[in-house]
Amino acid sequence: MAPTNLQLQLQTLIAEGLNELDIPKEPASLYEPYRYSLDIGGKRIRPLLTLLACGLCNGKIKDALPAALAVEILHNFTLVHDDIMDSADTRRGKASVFKKWDQNIAILSGDVMFADAFTHLEYYGLKSDFSKSEYLNVHQTFTQATVTVCEGQALDMDFVEREQVSHQEYLKMIQGKTAALLAGALKLGAIAAHATSTQQEALFNFGMEMGVAFQIQDDLLDATADPEKFGKKVGGDIFEGKKTYLTILALERANESDSSFIQQVLDSTQPSQTDVDKVLDIMHSLNVIDDIAEEVNQHYNSALHELDDFNDSEYKHELKNLLIFLQNRDH
Ligand code: IPE
Ligand code: IPE
Ligand code: MG
Ligand code: MG
Ligand code: MG
Repeated sequence: MAPTNLQLQLQTLIAEGLNELDIPKEPASLYEPYRYSLDIGGKRIRPLLTLLACGLCNGKIKDALPAALAVEILHNFTLVHDDIMDSADTRRGKASVFKKWDQNIAILSGDVMFADAFTHLEYYGLKSDFSKSEYLNVHQTFTQATVTVCEGQALDMDFVEREQVSHQEYLKMIQGKTAALLAGALKLGAIAAHATSTQQEALFNFGMEMGVAFQIQDDLLDATADPEKFGKKVGGDIFEGKKTYLTILALERANESDSSFIQQVLDSTQPSQTDVDKVLDIMHSLNVIDDIAEEVNQHYNSALHELDDFNDSEYKHELKNLLIFLQNRDH
């Protein structure tokens, strides 16, 4: 899908904002990985959502830019640390930060990104059009999203050690690790537009639904995507013994022998490529892949409904477009 003018215009604003970040040169071991993780790409979905939410609520886009940058920096920080936790060597088709440098460097540059993200929120405290309570709301929304992401990440890691994880528990985990930041990004855009609390809530819910769909789809792509496009290894989650939506559903549906085989591959510290491929085959034969793809669509549709009460505008049109784009994404 070709990007629309509005999307190009907003993505340019985001790219310029990220380029112009005042990231010091020294110490290089701290700041080079910061610059690197922003420069190796990324779809920039979260900052785009912040700007679109602001436009949807008739706000000034420029007022949403600091929050958008804060969100994208925070997101990249979570990825720098996530790749350590997941022992993931590649990110966006390039070496992950801990692989290119080392683990200590990745921890510390992640920390500085995290702290630096907050400095962009000062805008809402300094600018007189924002009330004290709006500034507080910005701060709380951002902090809450961060805390919830950490909770989701903790569950994600806890689940690796667990025999069984229910659907419900999995949903709670992804609402945390993925959806919370998308929801927070949208709500921040609404606050930057001085929107009503009803509007803030609708956009937050839009983000939660979209985030759940997005993460289930991420799990799906982990098993089905072209590794060149996806920039990550196929079956990486299985190699890591991750409880994803695919493994949960496969374990629920498989007969005893398949189920113990899947469990054994997930538990093994270094499964062979053949075994991982076999697990993928079992998933296909149990319709796990098709049914999950259908569920992803249902969540995207629920997200769409959250926009019903907003007036038609190019921003609304663009948010809908973005949902369609994400629904069809292959990386
Ligand atoms: C990756 O997010 C991490 C998840 C929460 C699934 P994205 O797919 O938005 O990553 P980039 O920024 O576009 O690389
Ligand atoms: C990432 O989830 C979530 C956060 C970074 C908070 P994943 O571990 O599934 O994301 P990818 O697959 O590495 O991008
Ligand atoms: Mg992870
Ligand atoms: Mg990961
Ligand atoms: Mg993943």
